[in-house]
Amino acid sequence: MESYWASRNPQSPEPDAPVGGEYDVAVVGAGITGLSTAVMLADRGCRVVVLEARHVGAGTTGSSTAKVSVLQGRRQSEIAAKQSDELLAHYVAGGRAGQAWLLEFCARAGVAVQRPSAVTYAAGPDDIATVEEEQRVCERVGLPVTWRPQDGDAPFPYSGGVVLADQAQLDPLELLTALAADAVARGITVYTGARVTEVDDGPEHLVSTSRGSVRADRVVLATGTPIADRGGFFARLAPQRSYAIALRLAGLPESDMYLSVGTPARSIRTTPRGDDRTLLIGGNSHPVGGGGSELDAIEELTAWAQQHYPGAQVTHRWSAQDYHPIDALPYVGPLTPSNDRVLVATGFAKWGLTTGAAAATIMTGLVDGGAPDWADAFASWSAHEFAGFGTGAKQNLKVVADLVGDRLTALERVPDEAPGEGVGRVGRKGLSPVAVSTVDGMTCTVSAACTHLGGVVHWNDFERSWDCPLHGSRFASDGALLEGPATTDLQGAEPAGTD
Ligand SMILES: Cc1cc2nc3c(=O)[nH]c(=O)nc-3n(C[C@H](O)[C@H](O)[C@H](O)COP(=O)(O)OP(=O)(O)OC[C@H]3O[C@@H](n4cnc5c(N)ncnc54)[C@H](O)[C@@H]3O)c2cc1C
Ligand code: FES
Repeated sequence: MESYWASRNPQSPEPDAPVGGEYDVAVVGAGITGLSTAVMLADRGCRVVVLEARHVGAGTTGSSTAKVSVLQGRRQSEIAAKQSDELLAHYVAGGRAGQAWLLEFCARAGVAVQRPSAVTYAAGPDDIATVEEEQRVCERVGLPVTWRPQDGDAPFPYSGGVVLADQAQLDPLELLTALAADAVARGITVYTGARVTEVDDGPEHLVSTSRGSVRADRVVLATGTPIADRGGFFARLAPQRSYAIALRLAGLPESDMYLSVGTPARSIRTTPRGDDRTLLIGGNSHPVGGGGSELDAIEELTAWAQQHYPGAQVTHRWSAQDYHPIDALPYVGPLTPSNDRVLVATGFAKWGLTTGAAAATIMTGLVDGGAPDWADAFASWSAHEFAGFGTGAKQNLKVVADLVGDRLTALERVPDEAPGEGVGRVGRKGLSPVAVSTVDGMTCTVSAACTHLGGVVHWNDFERSWDCPLHGSRFASDGALLEGPATTDLQGAEPAGTD
């Protein structure tokens, strides 16, 4: 399911050059976080290599709706409910710094940017109090927001919204392509088609990939959710999948960037297409592998778009996922409390365009010269987590083991006949959990046990993939790894014939 951006900026891995060499920093992942970190580090004179499993923008950045905004739905009031105003103010300062860095880069590199207002809105009277609370919290931390009681331009239900003027939006793949080109121009080696399989903490400092190894003093894991997760971040993150649609509609006017506060959320923006515009609608987020039918989710979003924009023609439908931190603030810094050689950046809660660039600023500072004074709002470990690290990690693994055990016990024997086209089933074959699916006439049987920590995978009937409900790893129907904390394919891919 190709995103609108991918159809405009075709990308492919270039797995020809052998992977090797010695570097100051190995950055894993070529999304907004990895590429902006690489460019910032190169500015400080570091020798940097970028290692990307697939291609530039293959992860969430290339599928996002790419609003570069400091007003972020009801993010500020969610943070205020769990954290101090000081930390909230530092989070906002980080967002502003990330936004400013990106805008300066785009101006320098010629990446097209539009500057609409961001609007967090109530779709009905029941949601107004929630939006008013967002306005109060934003004002408390000095954001110059205003209230928009009605919106004549909005063809969807709108009962009032809080507005922050002069925010930004762009094409995320145009941005990443420019960042990668800038990185290469600064002498950074960018390997695509090179999946990192292991990060060695020992004296060798080896980072192993699917096609060779590099040596690096420091490693930045900018992989969405951290791979090689010795810090147990998977237990502090909730992976959420959500959906997006691109539509054509003659005479569509330019729009602000809207995000509703209710459930299901609705995200609306436009993007220029020649003299005309394309409409982008997003929403219907749910836990990865845990929201019922994914096909129903995209169909429902499509029906909503066509109801409120009659005559609009759907050109692209896709989905993507991001990771939500359980205590509201992102995690940026050392992978474990005792080792700052490996850094992570995760938990952006669907606001990684600004937060990813903020994370890059912090990690660049941690490698060379010191982090900014707002970095405490992004700390990967707080003081009490440092103290309880060992116990917490063991408890997390026990919770996972219990969940997996319960789910395995409940599995029934998988039927002998192949599933119909586009259908996947999970069951037992003897004592083993198996996942059987038929896609494009090919029936594949693979292990149903996720290669991360053994979660039992769920069939995603929209993407036709196996999705793990525990920490969000995803695999193609033939078991090939797509994304998430896992680093290897599902076991035993064995095409079992065609219909
Ligand atoms: C539907 C949707 C809409 C969104 N809209 C917005 C928005 O409007 N504004 C906003 O600010 N944020 C938005 N977000 C969130 C934002 O897109 C993410 O927070 C951000 O893109 C994360 O960037 P990243 O660089 O950390 O990760 P990614 O972009 O996912 O990049 C990680 C990279 O690491 C690579 N990788 C993974 N494992 C390995 C490995 N083992 N070896 C090598 N490489 C590896 C991947 O292939 C990928 O290229 C949205 C998210 C979703 C799901
Ligand atoms: S992603 Fe952790 S068990 Fe599957």
